[in-house]
Amino acid sequence: MPGIAVLLSGSGSNLQALLDAQAAGELAGEVVLVVSDRAQAYGLQRALQAGVAAAYIPLRATRGPLRQQWEQRLADIVACFEPDLIVLAGFMRVLSAAFLERFPNRVINQHPALLPADGGDTVTTTSGLVIPALRGAHVVADALRLGLPVTGCTIHRVTPRVDDGPILARAEVPIQPDDTVESLHERIKAVERRLIVATVNRLLASE
Ligand code: GRF
Repeated sequence: MPGIAVLLSGSGSNLQALLDAQAAGELAGEVVLVVSDRAQAYGLQRALQAGVAAAYIPLRATRGPLRQQWEQRLADIVACFEPDLIVLAGFMRVLSAAFLERFPNRVINQHPALLPADGGDTVTTTSGLVIPALRGAHVVADALRLGLPVTGCTIHRVTPRVDDGPILARAEVPIQPDDTVESLHERIKAVERRLIVATVNRLLASE
């Protein structure tokens, strides 16, 4: 069974979707490791409840040698589990080229907005609407602030460029007039949970 490592920083509802699919015999792999950079991340509890190895690797500095040390430690722990796929599921850290080179073509990321296939600044929706490609950590709020009628989610391969890299899956989510950041993000995440299971299955099946 191919191994999957999940890196996260928060609630881990996407991890839960993978664990639920696994428990139902509907995942083409096995979650072998969950790592968080935050001790309070509920995703760690979800991992432990499912009997999956869970590690908290505290980040003491966001740059310099301590940052490098942290990433090295993260890579060493992940490497121990020899995962076939590494899923960034709400992992709020950018991984360096050094990390990615150690796991070539194995790291995928979930992004709660639509990203274009060409790395450009706009995305064309299925209805032909051209909207800005939203990147960064606040894209759900950005979609609301810009008054977009539609946003969505993307799963892509990770490259050293933030929120970029070959697109693996994408789905649109309409924005409703009374949406708040919370309500919109929750609807996006409901779609993301289905998409991550389907995408992981597709990737592992084609290996
Ligand atoms: C998702 O919206 C993902 O796209 C973003 O962080 C969120 C993670 O949600 N990067 P959860 O922790 O899996 O509930």
